[in-house]
Amino acid sequence: MKYIISGTNRPGSRSRLISNIVQKMYAELNENVEIIDLSELPFSDLTGAQYSGGVSESWAKAIDKVNQASGLIFVVPEYNGSFPGSLKYFVDHWKYPQSFEFRPMCFIGLGGMFGGLRPVEQLQQVMGYRNAFQYPERVFLMNIFKTLKGTELEDAMAMQLLRSQAQGFQMFVKALESQKMDANSKGQARS
Ligand SMILES: Cc1cc2nc3c(=O)[nH]c(=O)nc-3n(C[C@H](O)[C@H](O)[C@H](O)COP(=O)(O)O)c2cc1C
Repeated sequence: MKYIISGTNRPGSRSRLISNIVQKMYAELNENVEIIDLSELPFSDLTGAQYSGGVSESWAKAIDKVNQASGLIFVVPEYNGSFPGSLKYFVDHWKYPQSFEFRPMCFIGLGGMFGGLRPVEQLQQVMGYRNAFQYPERVFLMNIFKTLKGTELEDAMAMQLLRSQAQGFQMFVKALESQKMDANSKGQARS
């Protein structure tokens, strides 16, 4: 199962609406993907003590999904020239290496005139450091305040780029799986 990570805990976020659009695109490609929405996770559960101890059940479930994901699709909004702190806080409770290493992932940014280029590239730096497999075709949704009308993304080019990324990411994951190079079969390719 692939998961879309809606990368902020801001209630009513545009990231969630974009995640819904992307989920439908995968459904059109005959693949059921689920959304991990950070706004549905209780951040009050994390007191800091969890860095060295166990997390609560709802957090453990979300992290478990990451650890078993055949692919992760990040929807990343720009907050102050970076990705949201809530997303980093989530990622900082993942396990290394199993959450990250060889995990196929792709990236969609959203924001103002740069379309979330900065947060995506900063997140890619983190994931690169942790040896994830990053699909190179990224999508940047510029001027999201104008283009997202209700639940529709009124930007034909952006919609086309999102579809193209979804198709390409499916092929990327299949290619890695066929060689047992993805996170879930890690080790087999090398043994
Ligand atoms: C705390 C905060 C900081 C933001 N900082 C930036 C920014 O630095 N650059 C930018 O282009 N947009 C910025 N924005 C605009 C967001 O990218 C835009 O509102 C987007 O919809 C936010 O994603 P969300 O709706 O999923 O929360 C900021 C928004 C918030 C809430």
